[in-house]
Amino acid sequence: MEIVTGISRMREISRSVRSGVPAGREEQAAGEGDGKTGRGRGPAGARRAGPRRLGFVPTMGALHEGHLSLVRRAREVSDVVVLSIFVNPKQFGPAEDFERYPRDLERDAVLAAREGVEFLFTPSTGEIYPPTFSTSVEVERLSRVMCGASRPGHFRGVATVVLKLLNIISPDVAVFGAKDFQQWVIIRRMAADLNLDVELLLAPIVRETDGLAMSSRNASLSPAERQAARILDRSLHRARGLFARGERAVAVIDGAVRGSLEEEPLARIDYVAVVDPETLEPVASLSGPTLVAIAVRIGGTRLIDNVVLGNEKIAPRQSAPDPQLCRPEAAGRKDENVP
Ligand code: PAJ
Repeated sequence: MEIVTGISRMREISRSVRSGVPAGREEQAAGEGDGKTGRGRGPAGARRAGPRRLGFVPTMGALHEGHLSLVRRAREVSDVVVLSIFVNPKQFGPAEDFERYPRDLERDAVLAAREGVEFLFTPSTGEIYPPTFSTSVEVERLSRVMCGASRPGHFRGVATVVLKLLNIISPDVAVFGAKDFQQWVIIRRMAADLNLDVELLLAPIVRETDGLAMSSRNASLSPAERQAARILDRSLHRARGLFARGERAVAVIDGAVRGSLEEEPLARIDYVAVVDPETLEPVASLSGPTLVAIAVRIGGTRLIDNVVLGNEKIAPRQSAPDPQLCRPEAAGRKDENVP
């Protein structure tokens, strides 16, 4: 695995992977090969691998099984995988945990290498945001609701850095986690609106065995808070149960989730949203696919979770028994697959 810090080196790698021409050999290689697949040998006998599909997984590091599941998904659909680690200051509010966000590049590099990541891209803040930097991407409306309401500017920071990373890396495919469902909706909207030439994939939420969605922020929970945090998945479980028994009234689903969260004295609800999974607009009833998303503060830690009800294609999730638990390599539980 190569650790790449410079933007120009990252671009060079990307060009070389996608064209199949080894970096620095572009001129000699032009016009050679078998003319169809691009496979062949360079003039000095240098092997040309041929064009390969480049997969990309953007993260802020502090890697856990959730992140690693995205790497595996990227691997399934690409030949070479780039994982980026960049704690993006522009997506943290002034009162948020940018300084305290966990950073452990050595550990992350070991995990990434073990997963077979070919390139770990870890740019510096100065290179991503030079002093003259002054452009940002605002995905209107979708960025202002739900998490956007309590984190003003957060999704502007996310969209801006994701667009930059996509432009630097030019992947064929990029993989995101359903854990941050609103982020996924916003990135997809940005990609469509700005005609980005990249395939975007959504991978299911990976959970601890007790149901808590894996998150770098779980580490900041005290033991009592960690116990209390189980209420997030439990409250969504209640929504799933009601839905499975035929309940379609928003007020009932919303009330059940709130009621469940309110039973936990350490939990303070930020929001419970029952919305359309594409527009994030409130739905009148659960007649079509519906996103139930929650944000909850447990002590000083803000946790999010969600489930999509009523559409196996968007985010199906399996009830017990979960085959993930039977697989020795799986450290946690994974919501059943999202296409
Ligand atoms: P980060 O929180 O590090 O998450 C990186 C990716 O991992 C996101 O796509 C997120 O949805 C996914 N992920 C996190 N926890 C997961 C879990 N338990 N199961 C499945 N996927 C999970 O999201 C960001 O970073 C940043 O906003 C970023 C997109 C990198 C832009 O800075």
